[in-house]
Amino acid sequence: TIDQRKYLVNGQLKSWSGDTTEVYSTISSTAQYQPTLLGSIPDMGEPEAMDALQAALGAYNQGQGVWPTMKVKDRIECMETFVGKMKEKRSTIVKLLMWEIGKSLPDSQKEFDRTVEYIEDTIEEYKELDRSSAKFIKHQGVYAHIRRGPLGVVLCLGPYNYPLNETFALLIPAIIMGNTTVFKPAKHGVLLITPLLEAFQTSFPKGVVNILFGRGRAVAAPIMKTGKVDVLALIGNSKSANALQDQHPKSNRLRLVLGLEAKNPAIILPDADLDLTIDEVIAGTTSFNGQRCTALKVVYVHEEIKAEFLKRFSAKVDGLKFGNPWDQGVQLTPLPEPGKPAYIQELLDDALAKGASIKNTKGGKQTDNYIWPAVLYPVTKDMRVYQEEQFGPIIPVLSFTDISEPLDDMAESNYGQQVSLFGKDVYSLSPLIDTLANLVCRVNLNSSCQRGPDVYPFTGRKDSAQATLSVHDALRSFSIRTFVAFKDN
Ligand code: G3H
Repeated sequence: TIDQRKYLVNGQLKSWSGDTTEVYSTISSTAQYQPTLLGSIPDMGEPEAMDALQAALGAYNQGQGVWPTMKVKDRIECMETFVGKMKEKRSTIVKLLMWEIGKSLPDSQKEFDRTVEYIEDTIEEYKELDRSSAKFIKHQGVYAHIRRGPLGVVLCLGPYNYPLNETFALLIPAIIMGNTTVFKPAKHGVLLITPLLEAFQTSFPKGVVNILFGRGRAVAAPIMKTGKVDVLALIGNSKSANALQDQHPKSNRLRLVLGLEAKNPAIILPDADLDLTIDEVIAGTTSFNGQRCTALKVVYVHEEIKAEFLKRFSAKVDGLKFGNPWDQGVQLTPLPEPGKPAYIQELLDDALAKGASIKNTKGGKQTDNYIWPAVLYPVTKDMRVYQEEQFGPIIPVLSFTDISEPLDDMAESNYGQQVSLFGKDVYSLSPLIDTLANLVCRVNLNSSCQRGPDVYPFTGRKDSAQATLSVHDALRSFSIRTFVAFKDN
């Protein structure tokens, strides 16, 4: 077990002597099910939060601190040092990803490698940004040197489903652009930050990265209350984002970089290639047990092919492989949140009571924290599973006869991240694609929804996101354009 008592504030790895919270894995290491104790983390509160904020404010020093004024090449060197040290921790972090959040071995390795690649690409993009701003432009007799500068202090909170990758997708661009940060890891996937504490401490000047542990309401809320946070960077749910925003006394001064909920639909047209569609919809709905904001969370299938789709799709879902994250070829793994199975069961009960049925034989079957994905049909709008994000292994299916039906639902939805459109001629359906692109931010043709490749913009409309993340866009989301101008006289 990891007894995590260190935290990073103002360049010092401090030792915590107060209360701690135990961290369990829902994976049992004994034959008889019993959550496994992985370690414990400090239960910090307002005093530590204020120390961390003061450190970040001091290091930023209204834009006059060492970090925001440091030369680009020196900031890059710090980031290169960090990523070098991070690479040494691969096997430990991969192991922790498997135990803490139940992510399969290949997906855990991918999360680590993708994060390293993200940091390295961000460094390259930052060099490019710097190069492209090193010139003067002239309009109407006014010369200008336009560049990008930091915004200030960033409070950074990441999600449990990508506790390394998505957290770093916020933290890394925020840091490299010259901001200073206070960062609190997610509730699950928290111990994997421990092996990186020293790398953060030794790679960056004091106060640039401050790392706290504890509950959001105990450490993040007091920081927001001071009104001294310039950017709230959060990937997670809108309830937490709204609660934190509401704490900020000058919310019109607060910038938001948010990645929130989504209800991405798959729309299956009558001429779709069913083999390809089924494989993609399986990947889109069941990858990491549906715990992805980009997961397909509602499937619209045309009435003409509904019966065939449901039969073949359900059989394929039943054929998926359940197991522990390290098992060869595993596709479904235990859910890390202890309360999740009960919640999933509530949604299933609600849908069944309102007329849906489970189409696959194994659907909804539960052993400890393993739940078999349930193909639910017909789903109607009054069901909770239609309305709530769910973030789990339920696959709600609706049928349609006219494309206006899923389009109207998408227009009514509070979310607008992505859509997947399946059909033989989809590539030539430009009016439909244009309409879809006005409802969401990414239209996937004959493929499931996903965030990557990380160079592509990742964002959403309505309640799904604020600002855009990607190797390219995140540098812009965490900075402001400033310029020096002079007249031609
Ligand atoms: O939870 C939301 C993530 O951004 C999903 O990312 O599509 O790479 O799995 P992904």
